[in-house]
Order: sequence, then structure tokens, then C-alpha cells
Amino acid sequence: MTKHDATFLRHFSMIIAGLMVFTVFLILFASHLYAGFTAREGADGTSPREAARIAKVDERIKPVGAVYAGETGRAAMLAAAEAARAAAASKVAYGGTLDGSVIYGNLCGACHTAGVGGAPKMEMAAWSGRISQGMETLVKHATEGFQGDAGIMPARGGNPSLTDEQIAATVQYMVDSMQ
Ligand code: HEC
Repeated sequence: MTKHDATFLRHFSMIIAGLMVFTVFLILFASHLYAGFTAREGADGTSPREAARIAKVDERIKPVGAVYAGETGRAAMLAAAEAARAAAASKVAYGGTLDGSVIYGNLCGACHTAGVGGAPKMEMAAWSGRISQGMETLVKHATEGFQGDAGIMPARGGNPSLTDEQIAATVQYMVDSMQ
């Protein structure tokens, strides 16, 4: 072996060693990338966005798509019926309460407490003339709306989802709580 060959071999083995280190680095880097990649994907390879979309559709078709079988099925059905009932009730104003004070506090009081827009305040002086018309007329005016000399009483106080019973209960509450 000449001196020249020895130098060549030394350089050559250094390059091989360097490439081996680089290969190990590439393997580690690739497996690191892959770990991050699979963590972000769904188990079956769906992307997170796709998975979210599927979950949303599942949620939407639940009442139709769900299988109601056996005891658990019955419980699920009852729960679904209960959820539907709750959803319907929330479309009725103030949860359908017949507590006049709640409805007054949430709606009517906005005008009637301070006398906004000519609304008669909650004082007997402002109401004795109106009360003498009779409850029926007061409730009718509150339900259908009423325009008098003082201003405009909007139909159902401006909330069309109030039921007739709720209006009647609220007018009764107003009349009862006046001094
Ligand atoms: C936007 C303001 C406003 C709201 C909200 C409002 N009112 Fe009135 N209300 C009036 C005004 C103004 C009058 C007086 C109208 C007139 O006599 O000129 C009135 C009058 C009335 C009268 C007397 C009607 C009559 O025949 O003299 C009743 C009863 C009444 N309101 C009930 C209610 C009830 C119940 C609510 C809630 C569901 C309500 N109001 C919400 C403004 C309002």
C-alpha cells in the first residue's frame, strides 16, 4: 500500500462514516415527522377536518340515524323526546312561565316601570281609569296592542311568542301589585 492509498482510504472511510451518521439522522428525523403526522390524522386516516365534519353530520341525523333497541334504546328514545320537548319549550317566551312578575321584569317593566313612551307607570293614579274598563279589556289591549292618548302599547309587549295565558297572568300581576 503506498502512502497515497493510505490517505485515500482514510478520507474514504471518513466519508462513509459521515454518511452513516447522516443516514441515522435522516431515519430519526423521518420517524419524528411520521409521529407528528399520525397524531394529527384520525385513526382511520381521515383528516381532523373531515372527522369534525362527520361528527357534525352524526349529531344532526342522530334522532333519525340512531338505533333505538332494547332497554338502552328506550332510555335513549326518552332522552331524545325530553330534549325535543325542552327545545320546543325554549321557543315559548321565558320558558312558558305563568309568573307575571318574571314576564313583567323581563319585558313590560322596560316601559311601565319608568313610564317610557307614555306607558302608564305602576301607580294606581295612572291605572284606576284603565282598570275600570275591566280586566277583559286590559288583557285584550295588552294582547292585540292598543293606541290611546298616552302612546302605543305594542301587541304582546312586542314579544309575539308570549302566549295569551302569559299576557293575562302578567296583566293580573300588574293590577295586583299596584298601589
Ligand atoms: C314599548 C313600551 C311598552 C311595553 C314593552 C309594554 N307596554 Fe303596555 N303600554 C305602553 C303604553 C305607551 C301604554 C299606554 C297606551 C295608551 O293608553 O295610550 C300601555 C298600556 C298598557 C295597558 C293598558 C291598556 C288600556 O286599555 O289602558 C296594559 C294592560 C299594558 N300596557 C300591559 C302591558 C303588558 C302586560 C306588557 C308586557 C307584556 C306591556 N304592557 C309592555 C307601552 C308598553
